[in-house]
Amino acid sequence: MNLTLKIWRQAGPRHTGELTTYKVQDISEDMSFLEMLDVLNEELIAKGEEPVAFDSDCREGICGMCGLMISGEAHGPERTTTCQLHMRSFSDGEVITIEPWRANAFPVIKDLVVDRSSFDRIIQAGGYISVNTGAAPEANAAPVPKPNADRAFMAAECIGCGACVAACPNASAMLFMGAKVTHLSELPQGQPERSARVLSMVDQHDAEGFGGCTNVGACSRACPKGIPQDVISTLNKDLRTSLRG
Ligand code: SF4
Ligand code: FES
Repeated sequence: MNLTLKIWRQAGPRHTGELTTYKVQDISEDMSFLEMLDVLNEELIAKGEEPVAFDSDCREGICGMCGLMISGEAHGPERTTTCQLHMRSFSDGEVITIEPWRANAFPVIKDLVVDRSSFDRIIQAGGYISVNTGAAPEANAAPVPKPNADRAFMAAECIGCGACVAACPNASAMLFMGAKVTHLSELPQGQPERSARVLSMVDQHDAEGFGGCTNVGACSRACPKGIPQDVISTLNKDLRTSLRG
């Protein structure tokens, strides 16, 4: 395939950016989207030009490092991570616009790379449990009903990619935070800090500049791991209980 790419180029956080047009040729439909960008970067380097900066690590849909706004959709036209998106999802001759996540809480570092340390600070505020160290406890000592275990596992699938924030018109991180809160609140180990957790995570979320949820649902539709919107209900329920308590 031959493609036209309009890519956001921005030299640094304090620079203004703009879309720059590039052409790539002979792209195989079996390439991943990031491999297609690798091809472009090899060509730019060969010409002595600055390659396009973008994030990736595992390239297997696990780590959450990759994330691009592709023709206006977080992670592109398929419900997957950018690294697992393949060029067969595009057509020969297509014009593809590639931008970084857009949110005040995710400032652009360079080109397509954004700073998502705001997510780390939300996790530091409460996304953990306190346990005594030592040998692993006997697994059957704290039985967990199957529906609770399944829901905890579902919520734990969140990889922290930030697509939910990028897709949301309010740049809210409620789906991400709801997944983390649900993951822990379904398990016995998450109960002692349940109230304190939700209060401090929500405080940190707001302090970072993320917006509130207005039930648009774009977050869930963009989520590559299929985290459902009802984790936000769990978060809100825990928050109401904590505020009353
Ligand atoms: S909830 Fe989904 S979209 Fe949001 S950070 Fe987690 S995996 Fe990514
Ligand atoms: S690079 Fe790890 S999820 Fe895409």
